[in-house]
Amino acid sequence: MTLHFRQSAPRDSGHAGTIVFVHGFPFTGEAWADQLGALPDGWRGIAPDLRGFGATDIHAVAGEVPTGRKLGGRIARDDEPVLTMTCFARDLAELIDAEADGEAVVCGLSMGGYAAFELWRRHPDRVRALVLADTRASADDDEGRENRYRMAQTVRKDGMEPVARAMTPSLLSEKTRQDAPDVVARVRDMILRTPPRTAIAALAGMAARHDATDELPTISVPTLVIAGEHDALTPPEHARVMTDAIPDASIDVIPDAGHLSNMERPAAFNRALASFLTGL
Ligand code: MLT
Repeated sequence: MTLHFRQSAPRDSGHAGTIVFVHGFPFTGEAWADQLGALPDGWRGIAPDLRGFGATDIHAVAGEVPTGRKLGGRIARDDEPVLTMTCFARDLAELIDAEADGEAVVCGLSMGGYAAFELWRRHPDRVRALVLADTRASADDDEGRENRYRMAQTVRKDGMEPVARAMTPSLLSEKTRQDAPDVVARVRDMILRTPPRTAIAALAGMAARHDATDELPTISVPTLVIAGEHDALTPPEHARVMTDAIPDASIDVIPDAGHLSNMERPAAFNRALASFLTGL
C-alpha cells in the first residue's frame, strides 16, 4: 500500500523517466494538475497526496508516525501524531520503489522541498535529479517555531478557515490575487479540506525538521531551483543560497509568481521544467 497519487500516464509509459511531484503545506497532489498535463514526451508524472493529506489517511500507509510525546516540542500534544520529514521521505522512497523502479526525478515545493532534502539525506539512490521550488534549506528559527505553535493552537480551536484567511496573501502574488480568482479558489479549497489533525501534525514536523544547509554540497545530482519572483514565504534569496551551494544547480525565477509558482504561472514553470528534464 503506497500513498494515493495522481498520474499523467500509466506505469511503464515513461520511457524517458518518472517525475514525482511533492506538494507543500497544506495542500494535496491536486496542486500539480497543471504540471501533470504538460510534461515533455516520454516523461511520466506522479503527484502523491502526502500522508494525512487529500486521499491518503494519516495511518493508511505502513510505517511509524511518532507522537508529540515521543518527538517533544510543544506544537503537537502528547497523544497527537507528528508528520516528520522522515515519515514523508520514507513514504516517498516506497512510492518510488513501487511506481518508478527505484529511481525518479523529485520535484518538491516548499514543504515538499523539505521532504526532498530528507529523501536525499536518507535515500539518495532514489533521486535521479532534483527540482527545488519555493523552498529553503534552513530549519525554522525560534520565531518560526513560535508562529507554527500559534497556528496549531488556532487550528485546534477554529479549524482551517483562519489558516486560509491568514495564509492566502503570503502564498499568492498580488497579481495572482487580482487576476486569477480560479487559482485563489483552488488554493483556498485545498487548505479548507486539510484535516486539522494533519495540519497540526505537519506544523510540528516542519518545526522539528533538520537543517539541510550543510548537505547542499553533497547533492551530486542535477538540480533545478525555482523561485517565484514575489515569494513572500521563501523569498528568492533562499533559492540563490541553494543554487550557489549545490554543485550542479541552475536557477529559474518565475516573474509575477508568489510562493505557489507552479499554480500561479504554470506556463513559465512548465517551460523551466521541460528544459531541465529534456537536458537530463
Ligand atoms: C509550504 O508552502 O509548504 C509552507 O509554507 C512551508 C512552511 O510553512 O515552511
